[in-house]
Amino acid sequence: MPKLGVNIDHVATLRQARREDDPDPVLAAIVCEQSGADSLVVHLREDRRHIQDHDLMVLRNIVKTRLNLEMSLNTGIVDIACNIKPDMATIVPERREEVTTEGGLDVLQHKGRIAEVCNLLKRNGIQVSLFIAPEREAIQTSADLGVDAIELHTGAYAAACIRRERSQDFQQLASMCAFAQSLGLSVNAGHGLNYDNVRPIARIEGIAELNIGHAIIARAVFVGLSAAVKEMRLLL
Ligand code: PXP
Repeated sequence: MPKLGVNIDHVATLRQARREDDPDPVLAAIVCEQSGADSLVVHLREDRRHIQDHDLMVLRNIVKTRLNLEMSLNTGIVDIACNIKPDMATIVPERREEVTTEGGLDVLQHKGRIAEVCNLLKRNGIQVSLFIAPEREAIQTSADLGVDAIELHTGAYAAACIRRERSQDFQQLASMCAFAQSLGLSVNAGHGLNYDNVRPIARIEGIAELNIGHAIIARAVFVGLSAAVKEMRLLL
């Protein structure tokens, strides 16, 4: 049974819509943990469109499970990560104009910089994960870089589920998960997972953690955050 990481960025998105104090992502983190989340995930974006530096500091102090910080390779963000020391840093690609993280990290193109950032993070006792497409070369390069984990991008699978033709993308995820494990990597997955499409992914042998944001926060609008987290937990 994989662990559940709940991404609470959208709680901060709602708060930032008014630039006031509510809803507070810190309170959301507490509710998620009390409802069965195994970790909390936040993305400190360069444009600070949702999570703010202050949120991250408070979260570091109150999260009792594990704090997984999604981050780009930007120097300022790397400095903050080394200072805050989340349990895990997941390196993601980031473009200002995107609505959400669109693709996996181009580990081949950015290999040198990723190696530098990994060393800095590891020296600060932070586990490192790379958010990548479920492709052999990216997985092999990640293993060569000596990271602790990868997070397989499930966006293509989620999109295929909407078209009711998920099987090829599912097979790709399952086989790439096995390949990554054979190289000694811990394998997480996420992006676009929801209450309808999560079960097959949760049953992939050895998958360590699923990181889910939008679907849980969207469901929370109707049933409350605690129930939304518990329902997802049950599906895993
Ligand atoms: N994993 C990573 C690396 C992400 O960037 C995101 C989106 O912030 C998620 C998981 C969660 O995606 P979703 O909000 O679609 O569940």
